[in-house]
Order: sequence, then C-alpha cells, then structure tokens
Amino acid sequence: MKTNSTNFKKVRFTETVLRDANQSLIATRLPYSKFAAILPEMDKAGYYSVECWGGAVFDVCLRYLDEDPWQRLRDLRKNLLSTKLQMLLRGQNLLGYKHYPDEIVKMFVEKSVENGIDIIRIFDALNDLRNIEVATKAAIKAGAIVSGTLSYTQSPVHTLEAFAKQAKEMENMGVASICVKDMAGVMTPEEAYDLISAIKAEVKIPVVLHTHCTTGMAYMTYMKAIEAGVDVIDTATSCFSGGTSQPATETLNYALTQLGYDTGLNADVLKKVNDYFKPIRDEYIKDGLLNPKMMATDTDALNYKVPGGMLSNLVSQLKAQNAMDRFEEVLIETPKVRADLGYPPLVTPMSQMVGVQATNNVLAGERYKNISKEVKAYCRGEYGTAPAPIDPEVMKKVLGDEKPIEGRYADTLEPVFEKTKQELKGVARSDEDVLSYVLFPQVAEKYFAARKAKEEKVVKYTIAPKED
Ligand code: CO
Repeated sequence: MKTNSTNFKKVRFTETVLRDANQSLIATRLPYSKFAAILPEMDKAGYYSVECWGGAVFDVCLRYLDEDPWQRLRDLRKNLLSTKLQMLLRGQNLLGYKHYPDEIVKMFVEKSVENGIDIIRIFDALNDLRNIEVATKAAIKAGAIVSGTLSYTQSPVHTLEAFAKQAKEMENMGVASICVKDMAGVMTPEEAYDLISAIKAEVKIPVVLHTHCTTGMAYMTYMKAIEAGVDVIDTATSCFSGGTSQPATETLNYALTQLGYDTGLNADVLKKVNDYFKPIRDEYIKDGLLNPKMMATDTDALNYKVPGGMLSNLVSQLKAQNAMDRFEEVLIETPKVRADLGYPPLVTPMSQMVGVQATNNVLAGERYKNISKEVKAYCRGEYGTAPAPIDPEVMKKVLGDEKPIEGRYADTLEPVFEKTKQELKGVARSDEDVLSYVLFPQVAEKYFAARKAKEEKVVKYTIAPKED
C-alpha cells in the first residue's frame, strides 16, 4: 500500500439510499416502515451524513405513502442519534415547484431544524444566489449546517471562474461547505478535477461533490475529484447504486481505504446495511417499480448533451403526440432553445421547460409560435436571473411589450401563513401541517382527511371490536 501514514487523507461519505437513490430508482416510494429497522445499524456506519429528507420525499410522503413527512423526520431523528440528518432544499422553492414568500421560507427552514435536520443543502436551479439567500440565512440562524450548492452544467458561460466566484460568494454568505451538484451525471473526470481544484483554490470551507452514475462516469469523476481534494462524496448502499443513482458506498470505501484514505466508515456495518436493503430492492424489481434499466449505463446524454431523465421525457412527449419521427430534430433544437434562454442548467424545472419548448418549436414548424406559460414566467424573471442574457428576439416574441421584473420575484409575494392557518382551523393540527398545506394544498388536504378517517376507524374499532 503506497500510504504515508503520517499524512492520512480524509474523504467522508454521505449515504443517499433514503433520499436520492430512493428518488432516482424507485420514484421515492420507500415508506418509513420499510427502513425503520435498519436505522440503528446505519447510525453506526460512520457516514458524514445521511441524506434522508427534502427533494421529492416530502411530496411523495403526503401524495402516495399516506405518511406525514414531519413525523418521518422526527422518527429518523429518534433512530439516528449520532448521525447527521441531511436534507435537500430548492432555495426559494423549498420543496415545492414555485417561489414562496420569505416568511414561509424562514418558517419552513426553522421547522425542519426543530424537527431534526442537521445539514441543509440549498440550491437554486439557475444558481441565482438571491434565491438561496433567505433560506441560507434562516438555516444558519436556526443552527443548521448549510451546504451552499452549485447546480452543475456545461455551457460557454459556466466557466471555472464563474463557478469559483459563486462558491466564494456563498462562503461570504456564511455557508459551512460548498456542494457541487451534478444532477444529470454528466460531469467528466477532467471537469471534476478542474472544477474542484478551482473551488478549493477560492474557498477555505470543505467541498462536497454530488453526481449520478447515469452515463457511467461517476466513479472516475469521484476519483479525480478526490485527487483534487474534495472532502465529501455522495454514495448509495450498493444494491441501490448505479444507473440513475449514486456510485456504491462499499466499493468506494474499499478502494479508497486501500489507497490510504481515511473514510471513517465501518465496512462490516456497511455490509449489514446492504444486506438489509437487498431483498427490498428485489421486491421493487419484482413488482415493476424498479425497472432494471434504471440501474444500467446510458451514454446518450454524452452524445446529445441532454441529461438522461430529460431524454426519456422527450421520448414520451413525442410518443404521446405520435411524432417520434421528429426526435432527431427535437434533439438538435434543444441546445438551441437552451442557448436562447441564457443557458439555464437542465434540471427541474428548466429541463421540462426547455424540452417542451424545443418540442413545440419543431412540431409547430415555427420557433416560439407556441410558448408555454412557464417559459413566459421565466422570461419575466419569476425564476430568477438567467445565467446569460436571454436572446433579445426571443424575449420580444415571448413578452411583447411587457417588461421583465427588475428585483427579486419573492419580494412581490404577500405573506400567507397566518391567513392559511385561519383557513385550516380544525384541520391543521400544527404549524407543520400549515406548511405542508402551503407547499402542496390539494395533496395535504387529502392527507389530512385520510388521517382523520383512519383515526376514526381506530377509535370505532377500540370501542366496539368487530370480527374483521
Ligand atoms: Co441527485
């Protein structure tokens, strides 16, 4: 082993099985009851953190799992006593799909910390720092560790200098670490080495790298990032790794330990964790929720420069319109629309916006003849400032004489918490319930009704047990 034991290098791991792996492979359908039993073991693994909340977890808990996401968080806290609980937060969008007023952002962040979150990874799809500022300040004030996050993408304006400068600005905002988030799994080893080096040269705080295996690049990308000094990487227990998920925890732990890195992980515990999740994974394959294709390598994203998830969306859009013969044209149009719109990173909601617009442009036979209301809102500045100026001609077609907003969109939003709380009298049982409702009104309402019905059933049963 070529190790200098006096100079042990450290790399720490964030385990993603409960959030990103769960979200990427099985549409976040893992109920709490399925993983509760392994939490005490996971608590001994030595992870830097367990990513377990935020992203789509909140929405899916209410919408499909009949679970209160806040209760899930409190239960996670009770069972992961010595592990840092981490969540992913979309800046001013929180866990929803639109911008919320600052009071809601502040309250949501405070309540997340109060219910058990330690680390909040905060990002904005456009890397508009005004969209993460309020959440970041509130989280720091509430005592959370904030990881200021850069949405990674490739474009003429997303240079090393631009990313490093944003990292510095986030450090100045008071974040505890910088996370580079390659949501699409398109970052190459060379890009990782250069980018992590550039950020490391600019900031003093630790740097985290997040990627996906989609294109098969992730293990190499992590190795080069580690050579460049990255401090934390995101991985998933091996049976929930690969494909659209993260690289495997055990594999990277094994390889890095041999290379002389201190990972802080306990390999025996990692094996127990994986043994626990394996039959669960197999169940999902059997019932069709986990398509084995999701776990394979797909290099199309490298050829088309379009993330894998977006490619499959384009295919289903075109199939629905019986226009698969226009696929190549749409693929050529997609980067053009992205350039017109100022090179937004192709992540939610921008990937959908750009994809739909490219499809419209091709199928209508005229560019920007049909414009979605999302693209209109984007051009108006409701999502923030585009990374590069939007093409003036497109801007004119989309907005006509209307002027884009000048300031921060959230400044135009009225507070809603007290009003909503009044409206929900007798239905919402806590401020957390009110926040669930503000984020997902119909879904939360349905959940509250189901919760009440379930309790009434239990009460009835307790009073007069029946044979069923
Ligand atoms: Co991800």
